[in-house]
Amino acid sequence: MLAAGAFRPDKENVIVERFYITTPIYYVNAKPHLGHAYTTTVADSMARFHRLMGAETYFLTGTDEHGDKIVQAAEANGQTPKEYVDTISKLFQDLWPGMNISNNDFIRTTEPRHVKVVQEILQKVYDAGDIYFGEYGGHYCFGCERFYTEKELVDGLCPDHQTKPEYIAEKNYFFKMSKYKDWLLDHINKNPDFIRPERYRKEVVSLLESGELEDLCISRPKSRLTWGIELPFDAEYVTYVWFDALINYVAALGYPDGDKFKKYWPAANHLVAKDILKPHAVFWPTMLKAAGIEPYQHLNVHGYWLVEDTKMSKSIGNVVEPLAMKDAYGLDAFRYFLLREMSFGQDSSFSEKALIGRLNADLANDLGNLFNRTLSMTHKYFGGVIPRPDIEDVEDAEIKKIGQGAMQAFQDFFNEFKFSRGLEGLWELVRGLNKYVDATAPWTLYKEKNTGRLSTVIYVLLENMRKIAVHLWPVMPEASEKMLKQLGITFDPEKVNLPKELDVWGLLESGQTVAETSNLFPRVDPIEDKGPKKSEKKGKKSEKTEKDAVATIEFEDFQKVDLRVGTVREVEKHPDADRLLLVRVDTGDDELRQVVAGIADFFAPDDLIGKQVVVVTNLKPRKLRKQLSQGMILAVKTKDGMELLTPTGEVPGGSKVS
Ligand code: ME8
Ligand code: MG
Repeated sequence: MLAAGAFRPDKENVIVERFYITTPIYYVNAKPHLGHAYTTTVADSMARFHRLMGAETYFLTGTDEHGDKIVQAAEANGQTPKEYVDTISKLFQDLWPGMNISNNDFIRTTEPRHVKVVQEILQKVYDAGDIYFGEYGGHYCFGCERFYTEKELVDGLCPDHQTKPEYIAEKNYFFKMSKYKDWLLDHINKNPDFIRPERYRKEVVSLLESGELEDLCISRPKSRLTWGIELPFDAEYVTYVWFDALINYVAALGYPDGDKFKKYWPAANHLVAKDILKPHAVFWPTMLKAAGIEPYQHLNVHGYWLVEDTKMSKSIGNVVEPLAMKDAYGLDAFRYFLLREMSFGQDSSFSEKALIGRLNADLANDLGNLFNRTLSMTHKYFGGVIPRPDIEDVEDAEIKKIGQGAMQAFQDFFNEFKFSRGLEGLWELVRGLNKYVDATAPWTLYKEKNTGRLSTVIYVLLENMRKIAVHLWPVMPEASEKMLKQLGITFDPEKVNLPKELDVWGLLESGQTVAETSNLFPRVDPIEDKGPKKSEKKGKKSEKTEKDAVATIEFEDFQKVDLRVGTVREVEKHPDADRLLLVRVDTGDDELRQVVAGIADFFAPDDLIGKQVVVVTNLKPRKLRKQLSQGMILAVKTKDGMELLTPTGEVPGGSKVS
């Protein structure tokens, strides 16, 4: 028989009246990837969920556009910082509608409305005496745009980027962050869910308890960096990116007098991955405190998407393209996978195989099957018209109980950012309904002409399907609206009251016609494991997943790439960048071809002379830190270093690779 809903969490449903959710504002030093898509999708689901829960909701995302690494990326692209940030910010702005992201606002740190608030807050903190001028030397990671203490480095390297930070000593302005350490510890202790999940709260507490909290260097001299917001009290300096970036969360609401600020700030929920825990859990609350602004309500921290044990990141280059996933599997299946697969707070591995597994099991089999069979029975037995319920039986009460437990679980877990468990909870009802079909055997009722009972069974199924579809709107908005349309309902989020769905029954109107078929989630063929056997796999990390994630191209597209073998004739170090070499290659042209290659960590210039390499010769020439680069040398990055591609025997320079 049917199992009772066992997923009800202890906590009673918490209903919030207002909800303000933010994503990090992403750096525009590279285009968006799966990691950004995940955070933004989670924020979107939470915003939609709270809208259905009846809360006034505001959802903010945006781009972070100042700082050294933006300047570096612009230079590498041969553009001015302004041209460059406009281009990349647009990639983010254009991606989100395609992923059905329902943000209310998009903020850019280069906008005047943001600059104004940053300067206002700087002045306020300065006037209060919490900013002073001093000298400091520290290990600066350009990837993170922050100083690391000796203790925080791992083997002398940045723990996030695995690169050696640069030691920088100069005169700068400092924020007296140390002064607020006790206040912050106390605030965290009094508000145990200020930082959640628990493991990140603990991490921050132990960081605060382990020693003195340092002051925060918040400026850069203009002699070194001009691409930033000028300090209102010293025109020779710009402010440090984090002091600039974090303020976006209040600037977008119109701090200090804006209505939105008054309305939404008390309900602020930040959403970030663990890479930026410290800036959000330590810098930001202490900055707010110093500026006389109430702390945010919750910091919600998730883990990393990994590709075969390694963090997916633009600096490592192992990224999955969100749009490729959408094109291959459909947006809603992709969104469902992101929320269902990752346990919020922990790391999770991305693979297309796992995505297909979820799609087939949860969506095609469980949910899709429920819709297909019920719609088809409604047509077969009632000409597609929703029957009026009539004779009840014990199975109805049981499934009702399962439904209540499932919806309660979904709502409670979503309230706490536990999406995977929330969906798991709701699936108790999906699976319960499939069992209900088997247990009530409508085909027998039909044969026996028991229309009274058959009417109830079909109605119970359809009404529960309505409830499921409504609950899934935050996760799969388009599919949810289609499911509801199939049930004859035009969806209006304003009219939904999710908490009430637990108790109301019979909103689905008898007499309406339902669609004949559903077919929202067709099965996808599982990916064959064509890769090497387990024993051979060592050292070939991420091969499979990357291959999986790459879209196929036409032969003509491949033909567009001109690959040539070239002989290296001259090599020298890049005058302004330690990691780059200027490699001059004979590719059969009149002159040597200069390629700026990021291989200085792996090869000494002399080792390369005379070697044959494979060069992409028709890559659009560009300047990398002011040096012209006409092509690209093909290389393989391995766990311990790098290998260059080379022919097995010597060939004339300029030979075409095909
Ligand atoms: O840090 N897994 O921007 P950013 C999961 N500009 N999430 C990932 C991820 C991965 N592998 N990679 C990236 C910055 N993310 C600053 C923020 S906020 C005031 C300033 C997501 O472009 C995740 O949300 O490096 C992470 O926190 C964020 O992208 C970092 O984005
Ligand atoms: Mg980053």
